[in-house]
Amino acid sequence: MLKGRYPLDRFSGLRTPFYYYDTGLLAETLEAVGAAIADRPSWKVHYAVKANHNPRLLAQVARAGFGADCVSGGEIQAALAAGFHAPDIVYAGVGKADWEIDLALEAGIGRFNVESAAELRVIAERAATKGLTVPVSLRVNPDIGAHTLSGITTGLAENKFGIYHRDVEAVIREALALPSVHFEGLHFHIGSQILDLSDFAALCNRINDLVSRLERLRIPVGDINVGGGLGIEYEHPNHLPVADFKAYFAVFKRLLQGRRPLHFELGRSIVAPCGTLITRVLYVKEGVSREFAIVDAGMNDLVRPALYHAFHRIENLSSDGPERTYDVVGPVCESSDVFGKGVVLNECHRGDFIAIRSAGAYGESMASQYNCRPLPASVFDVDRD
Ligand code: LLP
Repeated sequence: MLKGRYPLDRFSGLRTPFYYYDTGLLAETLEAVGAAIADRPSWKVHYAVKANHNPRLLAQVARAGFGADCVSGGEIQAALAAGFHAPDIVYAGVGKADWEIDLALEAGIGRFNVESAAELRVIAERAATKGLTVPVSLRVNPDIGAHTLSGITTGLAENKFGIYHRDVEAVIREALALPSVHFEGLHFHIGSQILDLSDFAALCNRINDLVSRLERLRIPVGDINVGGGLGIEYEHPNHLPVADFKAYFAVFKRLLQGRRPLHFELGRSIVAPCGTLITRVLYVKEGVSREFAIVDAGMNDLVRPALYHAFHRIENLSSDGPERTYDVVGPVCESSDVFGKGVVLNECHRGDFIAIRSAGAYGESMASQYNCRPLPASVFDVDRD
Protein backbone atom coordinates (compact mmCIF):
# COMPACT_ATOMS: atom_id res chain seq x y z
CA MET A 1 0.00 0.00 0.00
CA LEU A 2 2.66 2.38 1.10
CA LYS A 3 5.00 1.47 -1.71
CA GLY A 4 2.39 2.55 -4.24
CA ARG A 5 2.79 6.16 -3.07
CA TYR A 6 6.17 6.43 -4.75
CA PRO A 7 6.52 6.42 -8.57
CA LEU A 8 9.27 3.82 -8.75
CA ASP A 9 9.17 3.65 -12.55
CA ARG A 10 10.00 7.37 -12.63
CA PHE A 11 12.71 6.90 -10.03
CA SER A 12 14.44 4.17 -12.01
CA GLY A 13 15.81 6.66 -14.54
CA LEU A 14 17.14 9.04 -11.89
CA ARG A 15 20.45 9.28 -10.13
CA THR A 16 20.13 8.78 -6.39
CA PRO A 17 20.09 10.10 -3.76
CA PHE A 18 17.42 12.78 -4.12
CA TYR A 19 14.67 14.34 -2.09
CA TYR A 20 11.21 13.43 -3.29
CA TYR A 21 8.51 15.95 -2.38
CA ASP A 22 4.79 15.26 -2.24
CA THR A 23 3.48 18.74 -3.02
CA GLY A 24 -0.07 17.41 -2.81
CA LEU A 25 0.52 16.64 0.87
CA LEU A 26 2.10 20.07 1.31
CA ALA A 27 -1.02 21.67 -0.22
CA GLU A 28 -3.22 19.71 2.20
CA THR A 29 -1.03 20.78 5.10
CA LEU A 30 -1.14 24.45 4.15
CA GLU A 31 -4.93 24.25 3.85
CA ALA A 32 -5.20 22.62 7.27
CA VAL A 33 -3.18 25.45 8.83
CA GLY A 34 -5.39 28.04 7.13
CA ALA A 35 -8.59 26.29 8.23
CA ALA A 36 -7.41 26.02 11.85
CA ILE A 37 -7.01 29.80 12.17
CA ALA A 38 -9.77 30.93 9.81
CA ASP A 39 -11.61 32.39 12.84
CA ARG A 40 -8.61 34.57 13.76
CA PRO A 41 -8.01 36.96 10.84
CA SER A 42 -5.31 38.86 12.75
CA TRP A 43 -3.16 35.73 13.16
CA LYS A 44 -0.38 35.12 10.67
CA VAL A 45 1.78 32.07 10.11
CA HIS A 46 5.31 32.72 8.91
CA TYR A 47 6.86 29.61 7.42
CA ALA A 48 10.33 29.00 8.93
CA VAL A 49 12.50 29.03 5.83
CA LYS A 50 15.34 27.27 7.67
CA ALA A 51 13.32 24.06 7.59
CA ASN A 52 13.55 23.87 3.81
CA HIS A 53 14.47 26.60 1.35
CA ASN A 54 13.88 24.57 -1.81
CA PRO A 55 12.63 27.28 -4.24
CA ARG A 56 9.67 25.24 -5.49
CA LEU A 57 8.41 24.54 -1.98
CA LEU A 58 8.99 28.15 -0.94
CA ALA A 59 6.96 29.37 -3.92
CA GLN A 60 4.10 27.02 -3.04
CA VAL A 61 4.06 28.24 0.56
CA ALA A 62 4.21 31.88 -0.58
CA ARG A 63 1.30 31.36 -2.98
CA ALA A 64 -0.76 29.96 -0.11
CA GLY A 65 -0.48 33.37 1.60
CA PHE A 66 1.99 32.55 4.36
CA GLY A 67 4.65 34.93 5.60
CA ALA A 68 8.31 33.91 5.95
CA ASP A 69 10.46 33.59 9.05
CA CYS A 70 14.09 34.14 8.10
CA VAL A 71 17.33 33.87 10.06
CA SER A 72 19.86 35.21 7.57
CA GLY A 73 20.28 37.62 4.69
CA GLY A 74 20.40 34.62 2.36
CA GLU A 75 17.04 33.38 3.60
CA ILE A 76 15.53 36.84 3.10
CA GLN A 77 16.80 36.82 -0.49
CA ALA A 78 15.44 33.30 -1.04
CA ALA A 79 12.05 34.29 0.41
CA LEU A 80 11.80 37.41 -1.77
CA ALA A 81 12.85 35.45 -4.87
CA ALA A 82 10.14 32.86 -4.14
CA GLY A 83 7.43 35.51 -4.02
CA PHE A 84 6.99 36.31 -0.32
CA HIS A 85 6.12 39.97 0.22
CA ALA A 86 8.72 41.94 2.18
CA PRO A 87 6.19 43.17 4.81
CA ASP A 88 5.35 39.50 5.51
CA ILE A 89 8.97 38.65 6.36
CA VAL A 90 10.18 38.47 9.95
CA TYR A 91 13.88 38.23 10.71
CA ALA A 92 15.36 36.62 13.85
CA GLY A 93 18.86 35.48 14.78
CA VAL A 94 21.35 36.20 17.56
CA GLY A 95 24.10 37.27 15.17
CA LYS A 96 22.78 39.54 12.45
CA ALA A 97 25.72 40.90 10.44
CA ASP A 98 25.77 44.51 9.23
CA TRP A 99 25.24 43.56 5.58
CA GLU A 100 22.25 41.41 6.56
CA ILE A 101 20.71 44.24 8.59
CA ASP A 102 21.18 46.61 5.64
CA LEU A 103 19.68 44.11 3.20
CA ALA A 104 16.63 43.64 5.43
CA LEU A 105 16.22 47.40 5.95
CA GLU A 106 16.46 48.10 2.23
CA ALA A 107 14.01 45.32 1.38
CA GLY A 108 11.52 46.79 3.87
CA ILE A 109 10.83 43.58 5.78
CA GLY A 110 7.95 43.51 8.24
CA ARG A 111 9.80 42.87 11.47
CA PHE A 112 13.20 42.53 13.05
CA ASN A 113 13.09 40.12 15.98
CA VAL A 114 15.87 41.59 18.07
CA GLU A 115 17.79 39.36 20.45
CA SER A 116 19.91 41.77 22.52
CA ALA A 117 20.28 45.43 23.51
CA ALA A 118 23.59 45.54 21.61
CA GLU A 119 21.88 44.41 18.41
CA LEU A 120 19.03 46.89 18.93
CA ARG A 121 21.51 49.78 19.00
CA VAL A 122 23.25 48.67 15.81
CA ILE A 123 19.96 48.22 13.94
CA ALA A 124 18.71 51.62 15.17
CA GLU A 125 21.89 53.33 14.06
CA ARG A 126 21.90 51.74 10.60
CA ALA A 127 18.21 52.57 10.11
CA ALA A 128 18.82 56.18 11.18
CA THR A 129 21.65 56.55 8.64
CA LYS A 130 19.23 55.48 5.94
CA GLY A 131 16.49 57.77 7.24
CA LEU A 132 14.29 54.77 8.04
CA THR A 133 12.15 53.74 10.99
CA VAL A 134 12.53 50.04 11.70
CA PRO A 135 9.72 47.84 13.08
CA VAL A 136 11.11 45.80 15.95
CA SER A 137 9.96 43.03 18.26
CA LEU A 138 12.12 41.94 21.14
CA ARG A 139 12.85 38.25 21.45
CA VAL A 140 12.31 37.16 25.01
CA ASN A 141 14.01 34.15 26.52
CA PRO A 142 11.10 32.77 28.55
CA ASP A 143 13.23 30.23 30.44
CA ILE A 144 10.92 27.38 29.59
CA GLY A 145 12.22 23.91 28.84
CA ALA A 146 10.59 21.94 26.05
CA HIS A 147 10.38 18.15 26.04
CA THR A 148 12.50 17.60 22.96
CA LEU A 149 16.03 16.75 21.80
CA SER A 150 18.55 18.62 23.97
CA GLY A 151 20.29 20.09 20.90
CA ILE A 152 17.15 21.91 19.80
CA THR A 153 15.73 23.57 22.92
CA THR A 154 16.05 27.31 22.71
CA GLY A 155 13.93 28.83 25.44
CA LEU A 156 16.05 28.07 28.51
CA ALA A 157 18.03 30.73 30.35
CA GLU A 158 21.23 28.85 29.47
CA ASN A 159 20.50 29.07 25.71
CA LYS A 160 21.99 31.91 23.69
CA PHE A 161 18.65 33.15 22.34
CA GLY A 162 16.72 36.26 23.25
CA ILE A 163 16.66 38.67 26.17
CA TYR A 164 16.09 37.09 29.58
CA HIS A 165 12.45 37.70 30.51
CA ARG A 166 13.33 39.64 33.65
CA ASP A 167 15.56 42.04 31.70
CA VAL A 168 13.19 42.78 28.87
CA GLU A 169 11.56 45.85 30.38
CA ALA A 170 14.80 47.86 30.32
CA VAL A 171 15.42 46.97 26.68
CA ILE A 172 11.86 47.93 25.72
CA ARG A 173 12.37 51.31 27.36
CA GLU A 174 15.53 51.75 25.37
CA ALA A 175 13.69 50.79 22.14
CA LEU A 176 10.89 53.24 22.91
CA ALA A 177 13.44 56.03 23.27
CA LEU A 178 15.13 55.38 19.91
CA PRO A 179 13.63 57.58 17.17
CA SER A 180 14.55 55.21 14.32
CA VAL A 181 12.89 52.25 16.06
CA HIS A 182 9.23 51.38 16.24
CA PHE A 183 8.66 48.92 19.08
CA GLU A 184 5.88 46.58 17.96
CA GLY A 185 5.82 43.55 20.20
CA LEU A 186 7.44 40.46 21.69
CA HIS A 187 8.86 37.31 20.16
CA PHE A 188 9.29 33.87 21.73
CA HIS A 189 10.41 30.43 20.61
CA ILE A 190 10.90 27.54 23.03
CA GLY A 191 12.29 24.78 20.84
CA SER A 192 11.49 22.35 18.07
CA GLN A 193 9.87 18.90 17.64
CA ILE A 194 7.52 19.56 20.56
CA LEU A 195 4.71 17.01 20.80
CA ASP A 196 3.65 17.73 24.34
CA LEU A 197 1.22 20.62 23.94
CA SER A 198 1.57 21.48 27.62
CA ASP A 199 4.92 23.06 26.70
CA PHE A 200 3.00 25.58 24.60
CA ALA A 201 0.54 26.04 27.45
CA ALA A 202 3.49 26.90 29.71
CA LEU A 203 4.64 29.42 27.12
CA CYS A 204 1.17 31.03 27.08
CA ASN A 205 1.22 31.39 30.85
CA ARG A 206 4.65 32.97 30.77
CA ILE A 207 3.51 35.40 28.05
CA ASN A 208 0.37 36.34 30.01
CA ASP A 209 2.45 37.09 33.12
CA LEU A 210 4.97 39.14 31.21
CA VAL A 211 2.38 41.12 29.24
CA SER A 212 0.36 41.98 32.34
CA ARG A 213 3.54 43.04 34.14
CA LEU A 214 4.43 45.32 31.22
CA GLU A 215 0.90 46.69 30.99
CA ARG A 216 0.95 47.54 34.67
CA LEU A 217 4.08 49.56 33.89
CA ARG A 218 2.17 51.21 31.02
CA ILE A 219 4.45 49.66 28.43
CA PRO A 220 2.40 48.92 25.31
CA VAL A 221 2.73 45.46 23.76
CA GLY A 222 1.42 45.32 20.20
CA ASP A 223 1.55 41.81 18.86
CA ILE A 224 3.11 38.56 20.00
CA ASN A 225 5.13 36.11 17.95
CA VAL A 226 5.03 32.72 19.67
CA GLY A 227 7.62 31.08 17.38
CA GLY A 228 7.35 27.58 16.02
CA GLY A 229 8.16 24.13 17.32
CA LEU A 230 5.16 21.89 16.69
CA GLY A 231 6.50 18.35 16.24
CA ILE A 232 5.57 15.54 13.88
CA GLU A 233 5.28 11.76 14.18
CA TYR A 234 8.60 10.45 12.93
CA GLU A 235 7.84 6.92 14.17
CA HIS A 236 4.58 6.58 12.24
CA PRO A 237 4.74 8.85 9.21
CA ASN A 238 1.51 7.49 7.72
CA HIS A 239 -0.50 7.93 10.89
CA LEU A 240 -0.90 11.73 10.92
CA PRO A 241 0.77 13.03 7.77
CA VAL A 242 -0.90 16.39 8.44
CA ALA A 243 -0.06 17.49 11.98
CA ASP A 244 -2.89 18.29 14.38
CA PHE A 245 -2.84 22.04 13.78
CA LYS A 246 -6.32 22.40 15.26
CA ALA A 247 -5.16 21.13 18.65
CA TYR A 248 -1.99 23.23 18.48
CA PHE A 249 -3.73 26.53 17.71
CA ALA A 250 -6.48 25.72 20.22
CA VAL A 251 -3.91 26.01 23.02
CA PHE A 252 -3.23 29.63 22.08
CA LYS A 253 -6.92 30.40 21.49
CA ARG A 254 -7.75 29.06 24.92
CA LEU A 255 -4.87 30.34 26.99
CA LEU A 256 -3.45 33.55 25.62
CA GLN A 257 -5.20 36.51 27.13
CA GLY A 258 -5.98 39.72 25.35
CA ARG A 259 -6.92 38.61 21.82
CA ARG A 260 -4.01 40.51 20.28
CA PRO A 261 -2.57 39.75 16.82
CA LEU A 262 -0.40 36.65 16.94
CA HIS A 263 2.41 35.48 14.72
CA PHE A 264 3.56 31.87 14.41
CA GLU A 265 6.75 30.51 12.87
CA LEU A 266 6.12 26.90 11.94
CA GLY A 267 8.72 25.01 9.93
CA ARG A 268 8.97 21.29 10.58
CA SER A 269 5.24 20.61 10.92
CA ILE A 270 4.65 22.19 7.50
CA VAL A 271 7.32 20.51 5.41
CA ALA A 272 8.73 17.45 7.21
CA PRO A 273 6.06 14.90 6.21
CA CYS A 274 6.06 15.82 2.51
CA GLY A 275 9.75 15.01 1.97
CA THR A 276 11.43 11.62 1.59
CA LEU A 277 15.09 10.98 0.96
CA ILE A 278 15.27 8.36 -1.77
CA THR A 279 18.46 6.36 -1.91
CA ARG A 280 19.59 3.04 -3.38
CA VAL A 281 21.30 0.07 -1.79
CA LEU A 282 24.86 -0.11 -3.05
CA TYR A 283 26.02 -3.16 -1.14
CA VAL A 284 24.78 -5.57 1.47
CA LYS A 285 27.65 -6.46 3.73
CA GLU A 286 27.82 -9.18 6.34
CA GLY A 287 29.53 -7.71 9.43
CA VAL A 288 30.75 -9.64 12.44
CA SER A 289 27.63 -9.16 14.52
CA ARG A 290 25.30 -7.41 12.11
CA GLU A 291 24.37 -6.93 8.51
CA PHE A 292 24.91 -3.58 6.83
CA ALA A 293 22.79 -2.09 4.08
CA ILE A 294 25.18 0.44 2.55
CA VAL A 295 23.18 3.09 0.70
CA ASP A 296 24.26 5.87 -1.64
CA ALA A 297 22.93 8.70 0.58
CA GLY A 298 25.18 9.94 3.34
CA MET A 299 25.14 12.18 6.39
CA ASN A 300 25.93 15.06 4.06
CA ASP A 301 22.48 14.57 2.47
CA LEU A 302 20.57 14.14 5.74
CA VAL A 303 22.56 14.94 8.87
CA ARG A 304 19.81 14.67 11.51
CA PRO A 305 20.51 11.03 12.54
CA ALA A 306 24.26 11.67 12.83
CA LEU A 307 23.91 15.04 14.52
CA TYR A 308 21.03 14.49 16.93
CA HIS A 309 20.56 10.69 16.88
CA ALA A 310 17.23 11.62 15.34
CA PHE A 311 14.93 8.82 14.20
CA HIS A 312 13.65 8.60 10.63
CA ARG A 313 11.56 5.67 9.50
CA ILE A 314 13.30 3.66 6.78
CA GLU A 315 11.55 1.43 4.25
CA ASN A 316 12.65 -0.74 1.35
CA LEU A 317 10.40 0.29 -1.55
CA SER A 318 11.66 -2.39 -3.97
CA SER A 319 11.41 -5.58 -1.98
CA ASP A 320 8.69 -7.79 -0.54
CA GLY A 321 11.26 -10.31 0.62
CA PRO A 322 11.36 -11.63 4.20
CA GLU A 323 12.22 -9.09 6.86
CA ARG A 324 15.79 -8.85 8.05
CA THR A 325 17.63 -6.53 10.38
CA TYR A 326 20.19 -4.09 9.04
CA ASP A 327 22.30 -1.18 10.06
CA VAL A 328 21.56 1.31 7.31
CA VAL A 329 24.72 3.30 6.68
CA GLY A 330 26.05 5.77 4.13
CA PRO A 331 29.31 6.02 2.22
CA VAL A 332 30.79 9.00 4.10
CA CYS A 333 34.08 8.43 5.91
CA GLU A 334 32.70 8.85 9.44
CA SER A 335 31.44 6.18 11.83
CA SER A 336 28.48 8.45 12.58
CA ASP A 337 27.28 8.18 8.99
CA VAL A 338 24.42 5.95 10.08
CA PHE A 339 20.73 6.40 9.24
CA GLY A 340 19.51 3.70 11.57
CA LYS A 341 20.80 0.73 13.58
CA GLY A 342 18.89 -2.53 13.82
CA VAL A 343 16.37 -1.45 11.21
CA VAL A 344 13.89 -4.11 10.09
CA LEU A 345 13.56 -4.02 6.30
CA ASN A 346 12.32 -6.31 3.61
CA GLU A 347 15.38 -8.19 2.39
CA CYS A 348 17.76 -5.77 0.68
CA HIS A 349 19.52 -6.26 -2.63
CA ARG A 350 21.86 -4.06 -4.59
CA GLY A 351 19.82 -1.42 -6.44
CA ASP A 352 16.75 -1.47 -4.15
CA PHE A 353 15.13 1.91 -3.52
CA ILE A 354 15.18 2.87 0.15
CA ALA A 355 12.90 5.61 1.51
CA ILE A 356 14.06 7.66 4.49
CA ARG A 357 10.80 9.22 5.57
CA SER A 358 9.76 12.56 7.09
CA ALA A 359 12.86 14.24 5.74
CA GLY A 360 11.26 17.37 4.30
CA ALA A 361 12.38 19.55 7.22
CA TYR A 362 16.03 20.14 8.08
CA GLY A 363 17.05 17.62 5.44
CA GLU A 364 17.86 19.33 2.17
CA SER A 365 18.41 22.65 3.98
CA MET A 366 21.17 21.14 6.15
CA ALA A 367 22.83 19.18 3.36
CA SER A 368 26.51 19.79 2.70
CA GLN A 369 29.15 18.78 0.22
CA TYR A 370 31.29 16.95 2.75
CA ASN A 371 33.59 14.44 1.03
CA CYS A 372 33.13 16.48 -2.19
CA ARG A 373 29.74 14.87 -2.63
CA PRO A 374 27.21 16.70 -4.81
CA LEU A 375 24.23 18.28 -3.08
CA PRO A 376 21.14 16.06 -3.30
CA ALA A 377 18.71 16.80 -6.13
CA SER A 378 14.98 17.31 -5.66
CA VAL A 379 12.11 15.59 -7.48
CA PHE A 380 8.42 16.50 -7.21
CA ASP A 381 5.23 14.50 -7.49
CA VAL A 382 3.76 16.97 -9.99
CA ASP A 383 4.65 20.26 -11.51
CA ARG A 384 2.73 22.92 -9.58
CA ASP A 385 4.49 26.00 -10.91
N1 LLP B 1 11.37 30.22 15.00
C1 LLP B 1 12.61 30.23 15.51
C2 LLP B 1 13.08 31.44 16.17
C3 LLP B 1 13.41 29.09 15.42
O1 LLP B 1 14.62 29.10 15.94
C4 LLP B 1 12.91 27.92 14.78
C5 LLP B 1 13.72 26.72 14.65
C6 LLP B 1 11.61 27.97 14.24
C7 LLP B 1 10.87 29.13 14.39
C8 LLP B 1 10.98 26.79 13.53
O2 LLP B 1 10.80 25.73 14.38
P1 LLP B 1 10.01 24.42 13.89
O3 LLP B 1 8.54 24.80 13.72
O4 LLP B 1 10.62 23.97 12.63
O5 LLP B 1 10.21 23.46 14.99
N2 LLP B 1 17.85 21.37 12.81
C9 LLP B 1 17.00 20.91 13.90
C10 LLP B 1 15.91 21.89 14.23
C11 LLP B 1 16.42 23.27 14.55
C12 LLP B 1 15.32 24.24 14.81
C13 LLP B 1 15.88 25.63 14.87
N3 LLP B 1 14.92 26.65 15.08
C14 LLP B 1 16.43 19.53 13.52
O6 LLP B 1 16.81 19.00 12.48
O7 LLP B 1 15.65 18.95 14.28
